[in-house]
This record gives sequence, structure tokens and C-alpha cells, in this order.
Amino acid sequence: QTWTRNERYRSYDSYSADYLEALKKSVSRSHWRARFHIEAETGLLNDPNGFSYYNGKWHLFYQWFPFGAVHGLKSWVHLTSEDLVHFEKDDVLLLPDTTFDNAGAYSGSALPIDGKLFLMYTGNHRTKDWMRIPYQLGAFLNEKNELNKLEKPIIAPDFSEVTEHFRDPQIFRHDGCIYAIIGGQDLQEKGIIKLYKNENKDLRSWQKVDNLKFTSDRMGYMIECPNLVFIDEKPVLIFCPQGLDKTISAYDNIYPNMYIAAEHFDADSAELVNPSRLRNLDDGFDCYATQAFNAPDGRVLAISWLGLPDTNYATDAYGYQGALSLVKELSLKNGKLYQYPVEALKSLRQEEQDLNLSKVSLKENAYELEIDFAAQESTELTLMGGALLIKFDKESKKVTVIRGSEKRQVEVNIHQVNIFVDESIFEIFINKGEKVLSGRVFPDKDLKTISASRPTQVKLWNLGK
Ligand code: FRU
Repeated sequence: QTWTRNERYRSYDSYSADYLEALKKSVSRSHWRARFHIEAETGLLNDPNGFSYYNGKWHLFYQWFPFGAVHGLKSWVHLTSEDLVHFEKDDVLLLPDTTFDNAGAYSGSALPIDGKLFLMYTGNHRTKDWMRIPYQLGAFLNEKNELNKLEKPIIAPDFSEVTEHFRDPQIFRHDGCIYAIIGGQDLQEKGIIKLYKNENKDLRSWQKVDNLKFTSDRMGYMIECPNLVFIDEKPVLIFCPQGLDKTISAYDNIYPNMYIAAEHFDADSAELVNPSRLRNLDDGFDCYATQAFNAPDGRVLAISWLGLPDTNYATDAYGYQGALSLVKELSLKNGKLYQYPVEALKSLRQEEQDLNLSKVSLKENAYELEIDFAAQESTELTLMGGALLIKFDKESKKVTVIRGSEKRQVEVNIHQVNIFVDESIFEIFINKGEKVLSGRVFPDKDLKTISASRPTQVKLWNLGK
């Protein structure tokens, strides 16, 4: 089925209840639905938005097109959580219901300010001639879970500096001030990030500081979803430079999600001082638009879209697409970023099985597998009856993940491996997050085995809510 632009941007209320019912039925026929990852009820999920802690709970939103597995008129869906593992969806939606966001409530972030949760996001405005004007907009979520939008844009695009690509504000505090970074494209069609400051803390008047300085390389043709977080006081910039030249930093996916770590953030000059080179955030098949923030408990938390723009997935046939990753805690070791699922995820573990594994059959493809390579030789695992092959070679220090005809590989000393599998999702963490390889995989129905090329000592937990 191909969707015309008119179909993708029709108003939500032009879809009948019957249409939605039929779509829900169709989704329920999929045997790939995740058990402990976040997916949309129907339609397409993409970027995580507004990840924050407010009013005693974790808050998370995601980009959503409700009516099919395509990118159309987007809104934000709201979830809350007590533990970062179990998320509950409510009926709060940030809808594309004003002139300024008439063609989509696009990505953004959240920050608790004066007893409310302030949301800053991009209104994807389209004129009658379908010209795009990206406005940065504001909204408040209050303690009663009521959402109210600010009436006017808080930052309008300056077309003498950016093209129509100017979006995905991340709002953050630094040295007692409130800042925002916004991704975009300059008039030479290069990827840039712009830094803004809210001097008087009214959240309505923003001063442009400068373009963020963090590299001398050309950052592709556009940057999406920039995030600046501070880990042990060191700035780490996570972003998606579309069209990045692969000689600057190699990647295999259609669009990369990268990071740099720096010594120091000089807000006055908009500079990340002494930046590292760009590195891939995730070396797997599907990871994009990662959103991270400094949580009030001191942790730095991140969550990713396990999906890519301009990509089809097997679930499309059932009328849905996209999932979010597990919530990952970020840390720095010797200047390298580590990412590992939050401790609370262990609450999903059922009885521990210690196996000298050749082959096991499972009831569900929902488990965690741990291998300690101190005592284990090189080995190869076949998951989901052959849908995924993972090779661990200690001598050449290579981990290779093979999904059908595609492959991803990293070089790393292999000490410990934790693999999380959830029906059509895998997240592989090497050495507690020194390297991460995530992706989607769509095994035929009833392929629920794990086998090893040689007896392999593993710990196995079925995971369930
Ligand atoms: C990234 C992105 C963002 C945009 C959003 C729209 O995947 O293209 O730049 O705000 O998705 O859904």
C-alpha cells in the first residue's frame, strides 16, 4: 500500500472508529509484538521525546503517526513510569492542532521548571503551498496531567542562517542558566547545531548564542536530534548527522547516530573544548534519534528509537512500525561512552538457569543471556531458530552479528556479553556497554531456539512483566 501525501496528512478526526478497530485487529495478528519494549498500539512510532523526571515519576513521550506504518501527521504520546522498566500510557497527547504545528508536533524535550514540566518541541508548519516553516514551540504539563501550549512560537527560524531544516530542541540547565540546542542545516547545506540561551528564564525570549563548535569536519547535510549531557561533568554530545561522510567516521546504517565526548562546555562561546572524534553510538542495525538527559538522581539516562528513517520493516504489513530501546544508563570510562540497561531491568528476570548450552527451545523469544568470556572460548550463537547469528572471536577480538544477508561487526576485547531478546528486538551489550549492537529481526513464527556452535556456558533468564 502506498500512501499519498494527502492521506498521510489528513486530520485525525477524518479517520473513522471502524478504521482504527480494523487496524488494531491487524496489529494483534503480528507474532512480533514486543513483551517488555515500548511499541505503538497502531501506526508508526519514531523518536523518543520529552524524557524527564517530574512530579515523582519518569516521563517519556514518543513521536506517533496513528493510522499506518508510515511517517505522516505526528503527535506525541505520553507515558509515565515508576522504575524505568514498566511504562504506562495515558491519554495525554501533544497534538498537531494549532497553525504553528499544523503538519506535525515534531521532536523535542522536557525540563521541570517552577512546578511544571516544560516541553519544547518543533512545530512542523506547512503553508498552503506546502512550504515548511519550523517553529520552536512550548507547552506545559502540570501536576494534574493537563497539557497547555504557549500561544506563540518561542523561536522562529532565521532563514538568513538556516533552511527549512531546523528542529528537535533539547532544553537543559547549565551553570544555573537554561539553554537549548537545535539541529538543522545551514545555507551551505551543512549540518549544524545552534545554541540558544533563555537569559531571563521566562522561557519565551531566547537569545541566539552561536553555532555549537565541536568539530572542524563537515557534519553531513543536516543534523537531527542533538542532545548535550554531562557525565562526571564532562560534556557528551549525541546527535544524528545525516549524510555524514564515512571517511569522517564509519557507519553502516542509512543514517548514523553518533557521539563525541569533550573536556569542557564553554556556553558563552558555544564551544565544546577538546572534543573527541565522532563515534558510532550503536554498532547494530537500527538505532536512531537517541534522547538523553541528566536525571535529578545523578544518573545520565538515554533511550533510542530502534528504527531508522526511510526504512521499511516487516511489521509494516500489520499496520505498525517502530520500537523504543531499553532505558540505558550512560557512563564514561577512559573517555569512552558506556551504555547499559538500568539496574531495575533485573526485576524482569525470572528463575536463573545455568546452562552448558548446545541447544535449548524456549516458550517465548523474551530473555536475557549472559556469557562470561573469562572462562569461555570463542563461540557462535544462533538465536530465534537462525534469524540471528552472533559470532564471538576472542583471538581476533571481533563480534559479528549476522541478520540474513546483512552483517555488523565491532572490534573489542570480549570479557562479558549480555543479550536481551524480545520477539523481534535484540540489544547486545559487550563488557557492560563498551559496545552496543541493537536491531530488529523478524523470525518466522515458532522459531524459538538458541543454539551454540560448541558447548557454551551461559546464564539464561526468561524476561517477563
Ligand atoms: C528524526 C525526525 C526528527 C523530527 C521527527 C519527526 O527521526 O525526523 O528530526 O523532529 O523525526 O517525526
